[in-house]
Amino acid sequence: MTPGWAEALAGLAAREALARAGGGEARLEEQRSAGKLTARERIEALLDRGSFVETGMLAEHQCRDFGMEEKKFPGDGVVTGHGCIDGRCVCVYAEDATVLGGSTGRVHGTKIHTLLRRARENRVPVVGLHDSGGARIQEGMDNVYGMTGVLAEYSLNSGVVPQIVAIMGTCAGGAAYSAALADFIVQVEHTSQLFVTGPALAAEVLGEEVTNEALGGCDVHARRSGVTHLAARDDRDAIALIRRLLGYLPQSNRERPAAGATDDPAERTVPELLDIVPIDPEANYDMREVVRALADGAAYLEIQEQFARNVTVGFARLGGRVVGVVANNPAVGDGYMDGAAAVKAARFVRTCDAFNIPLVTLVDAPGFLPGVAQEQDGLLRHGAKLLHAWTEATVPKVSCILRKMYGGVIPAMGVHEIGFDQVFAWPSAEMQMVRAEPAVKILCRRELAAAADPQALLQQRVREYRELYLTPYHSASLAVVDAIVPPQDTRARLIAALRLLDGKIVADRPWRKHSNLPL
Ligand code: HXC
Repeated sequence: MTPGWAEALAGLAAREALARAGGGEARLEEQRSAGKLTARERIEALLDRGSFVETGMLAEHQCRDFGMEEKKFPGDGVVTGHGCIDGRCVCVYAEDATVLGGSTGRVHGTKIHTLLRRARENRVPVVGLHDSGGARIQEGMDNVYGMTGVLAEYSLNSGVVPQIVAIMGTCAGGAAYSAALADFIVQVEHTSQLFVTGPALAAEVLGEEVTNEALGGCDVHARRSGVTHLAARDDRDAIALIRRLLGYLPQSNRERPAAGATDDPAERTVPELLDIVPIDPEANYDMREVVRALADGAAYLEIQEQFARNVTVGFARLGGRVVGVVANNPAVGDGYMDGAAAVKAARFVRTCDAFNIPLVTLVDAPGFLPGVAQEQDGLLRHGAKLLHAWTEATVPKVSCILRKMYGGVIPAMGVHEIGFDQVFAWPSAEMQMVRAEPAVKILCRRELAAAADPQALLQQRVREYRELYLTPYHSASLAVVDAIVPPQDTRARLIAALRLLDGKIVADRPWRKHSNLPL
């Protein structure tokens, strides 16, 4: 080594060591004792061993106000770079809550939005590990250059590369908004919260006393708001979920998800479906059992599992191909669809379409939930999102009607005219605009009023209506369905349909700047 090198290398090592020290050992230890990993430990657990390449390690904020000159930390509270997950390149950042609360100043924000732009330019997914109080208060309006850039880059990346954010601490303001712009949010139970403004502002503006957890804990977002897509037990579970989720996604919108080898035969019959699903349309069952019975190796990654549970959406593989599943769940609210279910399904359909993932629906719903509450809640606006999403989606779309498909559910879950390529029905399937008894009461009102025995006449007319309209053979005769499939053959038929649709080409559509999704 020529003279001077040792000193130069020691200088670099000292600076890097400072960056690795984050907000100091005491704060790092405090974070560990709260049951969390540190920012660097999170990245290490996420990426394939030794694959992380860090950028921006020595960047520092330039703020001189409010005592900030004394508070310099190399890296500025966020670790950024790229690495591999199962051999695939990803861009990754982890906010470090031990440095100024993980807050996003100008430099911290610029590190993130530069990384986001790089991900888009190089067509690789983004994983953001959030643990930040949002825009850094001491930097005032300089925050515009950091945080706003992050929000813009998330939006520009949308539909180009998959973006996954994990909420791993208390995240407020821009740190919460940027997560909301991603495709998927994974949230850690009990040790993370997510909100636009924290309890202090809720108390000041509304006089509302609330804890971080009650305002934005995992329970709030996974069950009620639907903001969180996957709930994790702890940091390591969140990281495992991110790795699993990425396995269903391609690198970018120019690719398809990798097909996996499977030893689950495509022709496998599924006789257990005859036990899982009662033929009596009034008896309920858990649709997720059906999905698992059909899927390769019974593997189903359910998304938004605890929100709008009357619809289940998620990823599975059929014959090795990744598919997005959208299915009614009669186990919850008799499977009636509602506004929340429509929005959940619409969002998932658009995510799958953006990333070239074929869609399969399993239909069993008596209709959209009637009544004042749903109408006032904007059921029409929400249902329209789903109709719009199906028509706009160009990926292969296959539906299978198990038992009930009534009214608005018909376009919302699967017929050719809304864009489905193949439509199957089980022999148990009932399809009509209106169910038998209400239909007869509307159509035969006068006749029933004049009848000597209205109840007997009602029963007779209902029987006639059922025989005429409510068998799948009525729909098959009109080519509304392509085939009546015995339940045990469903897996083989779905896989055969997806094989045919592998090379699907969609005819050009009229030019438009973008559609006007009914938001
Ligand atoms: C600077 C921050 C910070 C912030 C937290 N800290 N948020 N520092 N800017 N935004 C610091 C605290 O001073 C503290 O430092 C440490 O982080 C931990 O914070 P605590 O309050 O002790 O933690 P906790 O009780 O868990 O509460 C977390 C919190 C709360 C709910 C996030 O800190 C909070 O309300 N922060 C402000 C949130 C906010 O209003 N952000 C701006 C949003 S506006 P010490 O050194 O004492 O440990 C925004 C809009 C973006 O983001 C648009 C851009 C153009």
